Amino acid sequence: MSKRKKRSPFRKIKLQLEESSVLPSGLISELPNHWKRVGKIGILELPENLQPWKKLIGSTYLDHLPELNTIAQKVGVTNTEIRTPNFEYIAGEKYPITLHKELGVKFWIDAFKLTFSSGNHNERLRLTQICSPNENILDMFACVGNLSIPISVKNPTVKIKAIEINPYAFMFLKKNIEINKITRNYEVYFGDNREIIFTNFADRILMGYFGIDQKQVHAALKALKIKKGGIIHAHGLCGKKNNLKQQQLFENTIYNYYPYFKIISIQRLVIKTVAAGVYHFVDDFKIEKAK
Ligand SMILES: C[S@@+](CC[C@H](N)C(=O)[O-])C[C@H]1O[C@@H](n2cnc3c(N)ncnc32)[C@H](O)[C@@H]1O
Repeated sequence: MSKRKKRSPFRKIKLQLEESSVLPSGLISELPNHWKRVGKIGILELPENLQPWKKLIGSTYLDHLPELNTIAQKVGVTNTEIRTPNFEYIAGEKYPITLHKELGVKFWIDAFKLTFSSGNHNERLRLTQICSPNENILDMFACVGNLSIPISVKNPTVKIKAIEINPYAFMFLKKNIEINKITRNYEVYFGDNREIIFTNFADRILMGYFGIDQKQVHAALKALKIKKGGIIHAHGLCGKKNNLKQQQLFENTIYNYYPYFKIISIQRLVIKTVAAGVYHFVDDFKIEKAK
């Protein structure tokens, strides 16, 4: 007896659009076969030539993806300090607040105003795996708790201090601490991480932001445990050629201002592609006390 292969949702989407004969057949191959997901919101990246049919395309994706309520599309880059995404509704409910679940963690988020990248999932997972019990962690760009809440849920002995400058993100951060039943070892600070300075506290520092500046590097190095050092995870963007500017910023700042530290190793991991030839990376700086 021949087993019938189950059609994937994407196959069904393509078939339905082919059969509707509204979309020119030459454009079917341009339909995106993957989409980002935040809670019940699916985010497509549609090429220019599909734009006239965006509403039909959005509602067809929605028909075959029952886990979603809304289809949106990315219409520009995320480049403000508070990282407001640039999305447009194309089908379904026009409501941006959604509950995203991953790694046993719940995140309430306004997907249209705050950043939560599904492409950073593996980095969120990696952090939960590499943190040791009882570590002290400073999350300098907390947003809604994207990187540090999963660590706290997986390992409640880790002590976290989380800073966030955007009051709207800060409100969701506090809500997410509550719904994940984090009752101890997680402190939140509202304001600018260049001004909220901790000294001699951290074993690990999370700098999940593109465009880290010199003041933020100083704030991170001041926060590291003086006698022990620690690990700094500094995010950034680079092209095909390695962009080593950020590494040089850390190296020069340590050399000129923090003679009691030395960098033992720098490991660069590519997290995702953000546009053609543009990569989101994280540099792991392992820093120890200089002899
Ligand atoms: C791109 S989101 C990243 C969230 C998370 N760290 C991640 O990597 O997935 C960056 C967050 O940092 C916050 N932020 C930007 N500049 C800041 C500053 N100077 N002090 C504190 N938070 C800041 C933004 O408001 C935003 O919520």
